Amino acid sequence: MCGIVGYCGPKPSAPILLEGLKRLEYRGYDSAGIGVVHNNELQVIKKSGKIAELQDSVPPDLEGSYGIGHTRWATHGEVTDLNAHPHTDDSGRLAVVHNGIIENFESLKEKLSSQGHVFKTQTDSEVIAHLVSEYYDGDLEQAVRQAVALIKGTYGILCVHADEPDILVGARNGSPLVLGIGIDEMFLASDVTAMIAYTKQVVYVEDGEIVTIWPDGYRTTDFSDRQIQKTVELVSWELEEIEKGGYDNFMLKEIFEQPESIERAMRGRLDDEYWTGHLGGLEMSNAELKDIRRVRIIAAGTSCYAGMVAAYLLETLARVPASAELASEVRYKNPIVEPRTLFFVVSQSGETADTLYAMRELQRKGARVMGICNVVGSTIPRESDGGVYIHSGPEIAVASTKAFTSQLTAFYLFTLIMARMRDLSWGAGKRFVEDLKAVPDGVSTVLDRTDHIEELGRKYAHYQNFLFLGRGINYPVALEGALKLKEISYIHAEGYSAAEIKHGPIALINDQTPSMFLVTDDGLREKVITSMKEIKARKGKVLAIAVDGDKEVGEIADDVISIPPATEFMYPFLMAIPLQLFAYYSALELGRNVDQPRNLAKSVTVE
Ligand code: AGP
Repeated sequence: MCGIVGYCGPKPSAPILLEGLKRLEYRGYDSAGIGVVHNNELQVIKKSGKIAELQDSVPPDLEGSYGIGHTRWATHGEVTDLNAHPHTDDSGRLAVVHNGIIENFESLKEKLSSQGHVFKTQTDSEVIAHLVSEYYDGDLEQAVRQAVALIKGTYGILCVHADEPDILVGARNGSPLVLGIGIDEMFLASDVTAMIAYTKQVVYVEDGEIVTIWPDGYRTTDFSDRQIQKTVELVSWELEEIEKGGYDNFMLKEIFEQPESIERAMRGRLDDEYWTGHLGGLEMSNAELKDIRRVRIIAAGTSCYAGMVAAYLLETLARVPASAELASEVRYKNPIVEPRTLFFVVSQSGETADTLYAMRELQRKGARVMGICNVVGSTIPRESDGGVYIHSGPEIAVASTKAFTSQLTAFYLFTLIMARMRDLSWGAGKRFVEDLKAVPDGVSTVLDRTDHIEELGRKYAHYQNFLFLGRGINYPVALEGALKLKEISYIHAEGYSAAEIKHGPIALINDQTPSMFLVTDDGLREKVITSMKEIKARKGKVLAIAVDGDKEVGEIADDVISIPPATEFMYPFLMAIPLQLFAYYSALELGRNVDQPRNLAKSVTVE
């Protein structure tokens, strides 16, 4: 969703802001703008559409060594040049960029209008510019402090004023804000990718904090103007990780990174002596882990599907009752927090509003909540009671791929720990560890078969409806396959348990609605085969992902994607890869913007 970036230092700020905005493109946006101050004059340039269009409107010689920039994902008001940020006050000397939603903007707008302020846009964000300006008397930080006291909602904001050269003021409540410390230059942004080309030294701004930066220093205070000491942290991501590295798209790069990212997620966390796992970040003693009677996993989208796989595994292997639930529903159903229940929230970005608010609601009710996240320093890991970083490296494409398989890896480790404390023998633990260690190689083998998957992705791209069907541990993987296809190719796709089709979805079947089956050699195999035959009997096209040499499936299906043999529980990893590639090549065939599909944002920071 919206991205913000600010710079002050010795260099011209416009190219740095534009580059930062380009790095934030992955978050999803529909318009962009910058506001730059030079010689005590503010210049704002903003455009709907892509950053490239904004770039064309920025004079190459635009001077001004401090400024702010923004990518907007419309919530209030249409996608127009005017509604893009920065927003200015009536004097045109103060500019604001905002990420989040101002809930009480209507009442504030009414009041400010009655005081003579003239509003130019349909956005909620413009109210911040007028409010800060209302309090401005030569001290921008104080004016921001007075303004935020009246604002209700979520925000990460940056503010500049032409009368106060060399400072930017930022404030945070609910939307991320990171300070980057360079040599005689400072940055403020919604995420580190916007500044990583310049500095890796960062300070995470917390909710309820105001930060003022100038080229060689910064000050952090709370909303009551009390000084706050912050810790400087080092970002571990490398610049190359947020570049395409020779691939056509980030999504393809991230799919191909999976042998390595899965390996990284388990590195140092497997115990080859006792055949269990170690997840120090949980900060739980063995006694506490043994005491758990239930696990509840809360997440959105792909992260929730990873949670569903995990719940299945936990119940089957560790015999601990487990469920995965949509975060957006949990928050509002007045969740029951039972003793001896361990909660997990799963989020690649660590910023998803639905998941974050569900976590806070659970914590308010006394729950112990662990985070499984990728982005280090993001809000969920900082507010959770412990957790596991999956260490996938930056995931830039909107469609989640490598984070999914790394989330699985983290959960497989947790399940192993839980199972070994309960019913799983030393020998079975050993086999599980060996199987898990073999997953990266299995994934590489599937990736070697990309050409065939590309052929099929392109062949089936022109169908308008698709079903994805699996059972058991592969049922959530089918849901994930459907989500991948619909989000990047815009083909309508639904995932179901193969058993469910006879309860309704089979009515959709005709020769224009193909079904993708996930078939393995597990205990439900024969039932899945029966479902395939039911589809064939109704002239439905059948594709299958099946294990090498599966003749029976080969005889029924119109097309087969083969994966190498594995043990039952490891198939979700091997199934996920062809599903990702299938979606990728279908989308490519249809000319879609694979990395930034329409209407979607990488990090969904609004409810
Ligand atoms: C995945 O491809 C989607 N873009 C989306 O469903 C995503 O998984 C969801 O928004 C949750 O994001 P998170 O993992 O960052 O919380």
